[in-house]
Amino acid sequence: MRNFNEVLPILKRLFRMNQYRINKCRILFELAQQADGEIVELGSFHGMSTIALERGSGDNQVSAIDSWNNVGWVGETYTQNDYRIFEDNIEQAGASIKVFKTDIADKKRIDYFEDKVALLFWDTGVEDCLMEHFRLWSKCIKPGGLFLIHDTADYRLGWNGLKEYMQAYGDLWEFEVEEYAPLHGLRKV
Ligand SMILES: C[S@@+](CC[C@H](N)C(=O)[O-])C[C@H]1O[C@@H](n2cnc3c(N)ncnc32)[C@H](O)[C@@H]1O
Repeated sequence: MRNFNEVLPILKRLFRMNQYRINKCRILFELAQQADGEIVELGSFHGMSTIALERGSGDNQVSAIDSWNNVGWVGETYTQNDYRIFEDNIEQAGASIKVFKTDIADKKRIDYFEDKVALLFWDTGVEDCLMEHFRLWSKCIKPGGLFLIHDTADYRLGWNGLKEYMQAYGDLWEFEVEEYAPLHGLRKV
């Protein structure tokens, strides 16, 4: 698919799409079109962002990693019922996705993706895990690849915390900051 406007009707049919969500999905679609290799999503929930990534991905494989079994940062629960809704939405969209139902700290999965990922979308929504998840998954980004971060409220350890930490400890040399409002990107140089 070449144009995000061709994807929007299916997203609107399956999800309540406000302007924020439309902007987020448009960015994901466009970055997936540009990705040169595997695409991985951490935190898929009901599959809205997964479908946007898959529609833009062309021949590149999209993998969705989510346990659908945890409590979010404002106390919301994610359950097997959410997984069923995800499956149903993916089927209705006719999307081809590899699904890994596991915690994103799953070492086997991380080892499998080492150095292979052209676009990684972090969207578990748990801000104080961002740094830990970045440490685990940044080795999976191949040179030229993008670690993309959902905009977080930043009150605890979100995007600004991660950026400051990386600047302070010199880790940023390996990555360049790229902004894709409402998302933030770290490009591996
Ligand atoms: C905010 S939702 C994702 C929204 C989705 N990306 C979208 O835009 O439609 C967060 C998801 O992350 C998952 N999640 C949170 N922490 C996780 C963890 N440690 N391992 C696996 N999944 C996790 C939850 O189960 C939930 O489905």
